[in-house]
Amino acid sequence: MGAVANISKAIRKPLLEVEGKCSLSGNIKIGGAKNSALVLMAASLLTDEEIQINNVPLLTDIKVMTDILLRMGVETKRKENKLIIDPKNLRQVILPVKLVHSLRASFFCIGPLLAKLGKAKLALPGGCKIGVRPVDQHIKGLRALGASVQIEKNMISAFIPEGKTRLDGATILLDCPSVGATETILMAASLARGTTTIKNAAKEPEVQDLVKMLNLMGAKISGAGTSKITINGVQKLNGCSHQAIPDRIEAGTFLIAAAITKSTLSIGPVIPEHLNAVINKLRECGCDIQEEKENYLKIIPSTLKAVDVITQPFPGFPTDLQAPFMALMSIAKGKSKITETIFENRMQHVLELKKMGASIKINDSTAIINGVSSLNSTALRGGDLRSTAAIILASLSAKGKSTIQGLNHLDRGYEAFEEKLNLAGANIIRYLKNSDKKNVSGCEPEKKKKVVIKEDAA
Ligand code: UD1
Repeated sequence: MGAVANISKAIRKPLLEVEGKCSLSGNIKIGGAKNSALVLMAASLLTDEEIQINNVPLLTDIKVMTDILLRMGVETKRKENKLIIDPKNLRQVILPVKLVHSLRASFFCIGPLLAKLGKAKLALPGGCKIGVRPVDQHIKGLRALGASVQIEKNMISAFIPEGKTRLDGATILLDCPSVGATETILMAASLARGTTTIKNAAKEPEVQDLVKMLNLMGAKISGAGTSKITINGVQKLNGCSHQAIPDRIEAGTFLIAAAITKSTLSIGPVIPEHLNAVINKLRECGCDIQEEKENYLKIIPSTLKAVDVITQPFPGFPTDLQAPFMALMSIAKGKSKITETIFENRMQHVLELKKMGASIKINDSTAIINGVSSLNSTALRGGDLRSTAAIILASLSAKGKSTIQGLNHLDRGYEAFEEKLNLAGANIIRYLKNSDKKNVSGCEPEKKKKVVIKEDAA
């Protein structure tokens, strides 16, 4: 009630007003994967020829990465969801702290810069809201390939030592199956002399997507999707046209939106195997999920039962859907346990869900949730990308109207989030900064507002 009353006053920060007890129906279209597109953009630095990436979502993270490429002399053209990258004028630049902190994924440029130009200088990404997030495995990999890597005052300089023109292949055993480190090594090793083997490699679909594009560029890589990837280095890579995979996290978020609002919904296109862990958990808690033609999934929810979840590297349950799933478990019948094993500080949604009346206790990295019959609306604030999505889903099911701040996080990773939900029957209004005027749905995120991105994650 209080939240709604405040909306009539001037808005200080952009916010969403979400009407609860909503029912969704029809289809929701899934865009290209943010985490693929970002690394594919970095990989384009490995060639002198044009790269075309299709199915690139319109997000602030992608916009920031485009700006970073531009600072390196790389031209980009965007036509709807097609991004054309011309890297022939690539020049090495120093990526300062502010830039790397505004987008962690900019650190992906270290591998291609090193392999292509022989040197790279970037700020260390440092920790972020969801955890410490070291880059020791990236550095270990680059050193094993023969790069000299020095860290001074939060800047990392990597270069190929004098007398050598290329990196050298090596066998690298990762301490943990890091997605980012696997991708850094893949990009650096694809232009190295000889063979590189990554053991304990990440198996995530985004890693497989990167390998698919690198192979289209002329790389010789096998084993993607398993824990052992082999890269036979080549001298040169060429241009190509590649389609980014659908975003499995966006798809999972909308499946959970359907479950939490008890709505029958079709979602696609998706690659169903990328969503197995999520589909299994949703089925366990009482949802019927069927595959439809053209890679759509139809979800038909029924009474929600509490189920336990442990986040794991792929093919396990993804950490990026832990927060949305906890919102769902908040109104499931019974007691569930959700354990976060990937990032140490990824429970920011708990406080917000508790404000809505959820019963959640935290014990180390495990949340114990006693399902309540329904949540209440209130004024909420998202603290990172996925927790913001989680509290919007919770608000869709709650009684009354909620307001949600923290949209800079949401717009980093979800393309037209509320517009897609509104097309399926939700009633969500975006209010812009310093305005008491309602915004019309359907604008592109970049055009809608100037977004200040703070250090964030995932
Ligand atoms: C990527 C995704 C993110 C997702 C995560 C896990 C992108 C842009 N982001 O992040 O959405 O949540 O995978 O699926 O693709 N670690 C180290 N040392 C390293 C690297 C990682 O200890 O050098 C640790 C991290 O602190 C974390 C774990 O390994 O605890 C997993 O991290 P990683 O797989 O590297 O995630 P990101 O690539 O950063």
